This record gives sequence, C-alpha cells and structure tokens, in this order.
Amino acid sequence: MAVNPDKLNAFVGKFANDLGAAMHGSAILIGEQLGLYRGLAQHGPISSEGLAEKTGTAERYLREWLAGQAASGYVEYDSKTGLFSMTPEQKFALTDENGPVFLPGAFYIVSSVYKDQRKIAEAIRTGKGFGWHEHHVDLFQGTKKFFRPGYVANLVSAWLPSLEGVVSKLEAGARVADVGCGLGASTILMAKAFPKSEFVGYDYHGESIEWARNDAVTAGVAQNTDFEVALAKGFTGKNFDLVTFFDCLHDMGDPVGAARHVRQALKPDGTWMVVEPFAGQSLEANLNPVGRIYYNASLQLCVPASLAQEVGSGLGAQASDAALLDVFREGGFTRVRKSVETPFNRVFEARP
Ligand SMILES: C[S@@+](CC[C@H](N)C(=O)[O-])C[C@H]1O[C@@H](n2cnc3c(N)ncnc32)[C@H](O)[C@@H]1O
Repeated sequence: MAVNPDKLNAFVGKFANDLGAAMHGSAILIGEQLGLYRGLAQHGPISSEGLAEKTGTAERYLREWLAGQAASGYVEYDSKTGLFSMTPEQKFALTDENGPVFLPGAFYIVSSVYKDQRKIAEAIRTGKGFGWHEHHVDLFQGTKKFFRPGYVANLVSAWLPSLEGVVSKLEAGARVADVGCGLGASTILMAKAFPKSEFVGYDYHGESIEWARNDAVTAGVAQNTDFEVALAKGFTGKNFDLVTFFDCLHDMGDPVGAARHVRQALKPDGTWMVVEPFAGQSLEANLNPVGRIYYNASLQLCVPASLAQEVGSGLGAQASDAALLDVFREGGFTRVRKSVETPFNRVFEARP
C-alpha cells in the first residue's frame, strides 16, 4: 500500500486543526462562564494580570487561556505590548448572548455529546434509540443558546413574513402552538413581538417546559404564553391559526403522525410553519462544513431521539426537501412550499 507523504501530511494537518478545535471548544465554555470574553471586550487591550483582576480569576490560568484563544483566532495578541484585545467582530459574536450571532452556546451541545458518548455508541451498536430527554442537561440549555441567535436574527423579520397572511393575523390576535418548543426561545420571541396573540408551547420533555415557563416570566410574556408537556401527536389544543415546529420534526419518531395531528388542530385556513436544518438534495451536496455539523449532530442526537420513539422513522437532520414534502403530503397538507432558507435553516409553509 503506497502512502503519499504529501497527502498524509495534509491529512494530519486536518487532524491537528480538528483536535485543536475539539480542545478549544471547552475553553470557549470556560470563557463564557467566567465572563472572560466580556471582560476582555470591555477592558482590552489588557494583560493576563489585568484580565484576571477584572474577572476575579487566577492569572496563571488566564495566561494559558488567552494564549489558546489567540492561537485559535478568537482574540488578538499584540507582541509589541504583550496585551490581548478583541476585534469588533469577535466582540459581537462572543459577548452578546441576546444578539443575532452568539457563538459560544453551541459548544454546550458539543459538551453534552461528549458526556453521553458511550451511551450513544451503545445505541449505535444495538440499534436502540437514545431519547432526547436522556441526554446530559447541557444539551437542553445548549440547544436554546445555539438556536436562539438565529431566531433573533430571522424569525420575526424574515421567516414569519415569508408566510402568506400570517403576520397580519398575528398582529390582530391569533392562536399559535409552538410544538417541540424546548426551552421556548422561539415561543417567547414571537410572544414579545405579537402581544395580541396567544402562544402555547408544547414539548414532551418536562424539564424543558419548566425552564420555558421561567424564561417567559423573565421575558415579561407570561400573560400571552402557556407551556404544556405534550407529545407532538398528543397535544389537545385546537383551532390554531398557526402551528410552528422549530428544528424538531426530524427528531420525532412519527413525523407523519405529528403532521396528521397538526392538520386537525389547525383552523381550515391555518398555516403550519416547519423550520428544519439547511440541507442540499443529496449526500454529496451536503459534504461541506454545515453538512458536517448537521450529519454529526444527526448521528448523535436526532436519529437516536427519533429511534427512541413510536414508529422510529429516523428522518435525520439532513432530510432532503423531497423527504420532508412526503411527510407534509402524507399528513394531509396539499399546499406546501419552501418559503425561505438561510445558510443554517429551511422554512416550509404547509397548508391543508
Ligand atoms: C432540537 S430541539 C429544538 C427545541 C426548540 N424547538 C428550539 O428550537 O430551541 C428538539 C425538541 O423536540 C422535542 N421533541 C422531540 N420529540 C418530540 C415529540 N414527539 N413530541 C414533542 N416534542 C418532541 C425535544 O424534547 C426537544 O425539545
């Protein structure tokens, strides 16, 4: 077997990059939890001694943390002054938890899959599922932290307006169900934007629903939100003008059963909005950085979640448009279109 040394070197270089990223991931969480990015953004250019003092942390560790961040391109180092700082873009993406591009949250999801890795391997060996609710708590908080910025950036300004006639109904006062709502990030954003409408968030995971209720109180939208523990094909509410599914249809064991249930819970002129991860129409179209994230998440989170439930369809996070359209049609939706897409998401509008 002839090994080409140049190709081997290139491959090892790729590995070094991945290993560095994997180690850097938990250092990003450390920076987020200890307020190191925020401290640096506020006080930089600053030394490791200065940042340790400002953030109440130990200098010897901060020297290492800052050097690792600089090597990762997450902070800047000036060798002339020996001081560290952040560019406006680094500050924007690493310090504003309520902003449209907050990156550290995603690494809580990574943290959860590492913590559950052996259990996930066992599920892959046996073919059994591994339910969403069985994961380490980092997954639930991480999912909110990862997805919320995308909703802040797109949901009210672009995704809802891409649906026919929905915004005017929401402005006038509509009934909305947000199914598979998790910690209710999407529910709360919509409830804030449309105070005359009523929003019910449903999720089968009880702990997530409790957090959602608390977050709704903190956000000041308790009066027009309600959160209930329920399965997507079991919630009892009816006569909804809009039903939304954010990044959860493919996690369900029986997406077609969920679609049929949504169909009967909607008013005759109601709309089902389904937000799914971005995907191309073939495996080869997904062999890129975004597909890499989603296939690996699908392997360790989405497919095991689906296989743990009734039917266990295992749709996967990279289901093509055609596969999703089949689900909508089998569920009784006749007018279906993709209304908008971003680098990370596809939005579908389905009507009876
Ligand atoms: C990837 S998370 C998305 C959470 C939330 N929609 C968001 O965007 O932040 C998937 C959610 O679907 C929920 N879920 C999975 N299967 C479900 C089912 N059959 N019925 C109701 N919720 C379900 C999980 O508990 C989890 O909260």
